[in-house]
Amino acid sequence: MQQATRIAPSILAADFANLGAEVAAIAEAGADYIHIDVMDGHFVPNISMGPAVVSAIRGATDKTFDVHLMISPVDPYIPEFVDAGADIVTVHPEAGAHTHRTLQLIRSLGKKAGVALNPGTPVTALDNLIELCDLVLVMSVNPGFGGQSFIESQLEKIAAVRQRIDAIAQATGRVIDLQVDGGINFETAPRAIAAGADLLVAGTATFKGGPEAYAANIARLRGQG
Ligand code: DX5
Ligand code: ZN
Repeated sequence: MQQATRIAPSILAADFANLGAEVAAIAEAGADYIHIDVMDGHFVPNISMGPAVVSAIRGATDKTFDVHLMISPVDPYIPEFVDAGADIVTVHPEAGAHTHRTLQLIRSLGKKAGVALNPGTPVTALDNLIELCDLVLVMSVNPGFGGQSFIESQLEKIAAVRQRIDAIAQATGRVIDLQVDGGINFETAPRAIAAGADLLVAGTATFKGGPEAYAANIARLRGQG
């Protein structure tokens, strides 16, 4: 039941001095989703952007805003990110004690909910949460920075999540995206897809070479280039 591969460029790797133009450029170049990495300098050792930036770039494209919250606490900020234009809100169970309630909150606001697992977090963390998920994100780097190397051990986890997602699709007809994020490039993308991923986040690999290279980069990551 693996879906066709979609690409969600991470704007963490974009030119921040021209963020609106960069979002429009990757949308034009074939991005399926826009991956927005939110970091608070507390849950992860880096600070990136907040709801005001999401709101500022919302008008640059109609594409899905796939917001990855690497923040703790997360609940107080969910309504702001939804109001700013988030379509999918993905949270980390490692960031707090009440992830089930957080997912309920995201869905109560009419948005899609995702759960992201850090490399050290076992697949069993999805127990009792996956029923509220529209997306599962397997982190293939330790979150906080772009440009890191793909962690090979996550291939096995991707396959295990693929099995769970397929079992749910079989039993309920519900389709859940399997997203992989971190160190995705022309070499690791096909391996993540072969393991079961159908939604790839790519920052460095998308933005490499500048705007004239974006379309070719995205097509190649999707396996069409
Ligand atoms: C890391 C972020 C990733 C990262 C991906 O915490 O969640 O989305 O920006 O960047 P690349 O594709 O450069 O590894
Ligand atoms: Zn991310």
